[in-house]
Amino acid sequence: MKLDNVPHNIILVGFMGTGKTVVGHALARNLKYSYIDTDDMIEEVAGKSIPRIFAEDGEAHFREIEKSVIRELADLDKHVVATGGGAVIFDDNIEEMKRAGVVICLDAHPDVVYDRVKDDEYRPLLQVPNPRERIAELLDQRHEQYIKADMVIDTSELGVEEVVERILQRLHSVSGE
Ligand code: S3P
Repeated sequence: MKLDNVPHNIILVGFMGTGKTVVGHALARNLKYSYIDTDDMIEEVAGKSIPRIFAEDGEAHFREIEKSVIRELADLDKHVVATGGGAVIFDDNIEEMKRAGVVICLDAHPDVVYDRVKDDEYRPLLQVPNPRERIAELLDQRHEQYIKADMVIDTSELGVEEVVERILQRLHSVSGE
C-alpha cells in the first residue's frame, strides 16, 4: 500500500509478547524506515543487560534510564520505535512519545501473551512463581495507559504481516487518503 502522509516516526507500545519487535521490524522494512528498540538503547546506556539492570540496580533505576531514552525519541526521523511494555506507565513518557510520532499500541489476550513469553527468561518481571497470573494483573493495571495510544490493534489472532497491513490501513484512513 502506498501512503502519502506517513507519520515521521511510529512508536509501538504494548505489553510484553504483543509483537512490538517483529511487527516493528516488518513495518520498518515496509516503510523503508529505520528500526530502533528502547530496550536496546537502555542496555547501551547502562552497559548491561535488562535482567542485570533489574537485579543489580532495581526497577526504579531501569525506569529512570527508560525515561531518559524516551526523551530522545523526538529527535528521530523516519524511525519505527519499539518500546518496553512498561514505558507507558508514566504519562510524561506517553507525552514524549506523542511528540515524537504516532503512538500505536499492540494488544493481545493474556493467554496469548503467556504462550508467547513462557519460555523467555529475559523478562525480569515475569520471573515469578505464577507468570500467567502476573501477566493478567499487569495487563489490567496498565490497560488505562495503553489505551491512551493513538490507535490500538489486537494482535491475538493476527500474523505479523496482517498486523502491519492493519496499521497501514489505519494510518491511511487517519491521513484522509
Ligand atoms: C517490561 C517490558 C520489557 C522490558 C522490561 C520491562 C515491562 O520489554 O522493558 O523487562 O515493564 O513490561 P518488552 O515489552 O519488549 O518485553
